[in-house]
Amino acid sequence: MMKETKEATVDLKSVKSPKKTEDYAKYFQAPSLKDAKKRGKEEILVHYDFNIPEDMQNIGKGKRYHVRTYGCQMNEHDSETISGILQAMGYTSSDSVEDADVILFNTCAIRENAEDKVFGELGHMKRLKNNNPNLILGVCGCMSQEEKVVKKILKSYQQVDLIFGTHNIHRLPELLRDAMFSKEMVIEVWSKEGDIVENMPKLREGNTKGWVNIMYGCDKFCTYCIVPYTRGKERSRRPEDVIAEVRDLARQGFKEIMLLGQNVNAYGKDFDDIEYGFGDLMDEIRKIDIPRVRFTTSHPRDFDDHLIEVLAKGGNLVEQIHLPVQSGSTEVLKRMARKYTREHYLELVRKIKDAIPNVSLSTDIIVGFPGETDEQFEDTISMVEEVKYDFAYTFIYSPREGTPAAVMEDNVPMEVKKARLYRLNEVLARIGLEQNKKLQNQVVEVLVEGESRTNSEVLAGRTRTNKLVHFTGDKSLIGQYVHIKITDAKTWTLHGELVSKVEV
Ligand code: 5AD
Ligand code: SF4
Repeated sequence: MMKETKEATVDLKSVKSPKKTEDYAKYFQAPSLKDAKKRGKEEILVHYDFNIPEDMQNIGKGKRYHVRTYGCQMNEHDSETISGILQAMGYTSSDSVEDADVILFNTCAIRENAEDKVFGELGHMKRLKNNNPNLILGVCGCMSQEEKVVKKILKSYQQVDLIFGTHNIHRLPELLRDAMFSKEMVIEVWSKEGDIVENMPKLREGNTKGWVNIMYGCDKFCTYCIVPYTRGKERSRRPEDVIAEVRDLARQGFKEIMLLGQNVNAYGKDFDDIEYGFGDLMDEIRKIDIPRVRFTTSHPRDFDDHLIEVLAKGGNLVEQIHLPVQSGSTEVLKRMARKYTREHYLELVRKIKDAIPNVSLSTDIIVGFPGETDEQFEDTISMVEEVKYDFAYTFIYSPREGTPAAVMEDNVPMEVKKARLYRLNEVLARIGLEQNKKLQNQVVEVLVEGESRTNSEVLAGRTRTNKLVHFTGDKSLIGQYVHIKITDAKTWTLHGELVSKVEV
């Protein structure tokens, strides 16, 4: 099926301007949520031969690009790949859109307000396009996988020159060339996932913290979530490729890596030649000489005992786990199709806490899911009290067209949803403070990341448990590990004094 999709790619040079918006699908490779839902049995091919065609290697010489990223770390990391490809084409980066020759919006579709923001910004780009007709304005990322978004852009955002999907990043050089020489909007969005493309250049910022993809896509189909449609089916990178990349980052002096996947616990389930899961991968990465290894994001359903056993070995595997719960009510979890109960989740938390005594847990929670009663919301509050999360991302449910929950009757008024979010955040803040207070007067290891956002005289870094620490120190400490004595614990930040530098 994937092959078919590729073969169906339209030769854009022969494309004529669509007369009516509805005609566009005939001319371009446009997205379809319905096709994206299908999960085929086709083998995933891994390509190791990525290169930039010779005639495009200098196309960006003397020109500048600006990539604006919305959404999750997966998107941030995709932007590093996009930047890497653009630099390999001779472009240099620009901090501002004003003097850029190529502007790309790498978008997020997870909630409506994320999409609204992008449309607002795209509107502002009209002025730049009027001033510089040679400017290429592109939209990529999750929103471009949605039919309704592509239609809306075609209809109302003619300043856009290029739309490409999450499976089409490796095609950027060809797509940019098409956009430069075509008078029409160039659209290439494969609804069915592509293969895995290795060896794309990546432009990582600095050499302190690095992201590494271990898998792509998601097969969980939680009823509220658009990701399985925008990111395609679960595909794992081969362990040897992941390990080689982590080793390479270690050699370059990176101090921390974050392994990325929409559902890292499903890692390896798609291999049909080897029995190899996320626990096995972590057990190997544990032996690589890199001081800290994190991962995100996990699904409680696939979080197995072998992984807990491996994480309990500690070392560079930090004692911090992001474990999205979404709701504390078994009934709501059922309607979300999360495929676990409140009891199962709590049992998992108990096992993790027993095995990793100082573990820090964080989570994602949705309030106001269709039909959520006061009582069911109270179950979420009691869950938070029981688990004692250090931190949580909390959201009001946002209907996403094409997902099963979007057609569920939603009888929870917006004021009630907002009140629930407010109350939940209050409880989380109280617990967050209680958890942080436990660190008062303790000495913790901190990786110094840079200056504090609010005060350039103060340095900011993170503990192994990912808590933000502020302290006063010399800027030469940036990128180094230090020991900090915590003197003041606030709700979401710790303040401390430098004790010593750590040799790692
Ligand atoms: N509405 C609100 N929150 C959502 N999330 C995913 N889809 C939606 C939605 N439709 C949240 C979940 C997920 C996090 C990344 O975003 O909590 O874990
Ligand atoms: Fe979305 Fe659920 Fe997949 Fe997470 S596990 S990306 S919430 S479908």
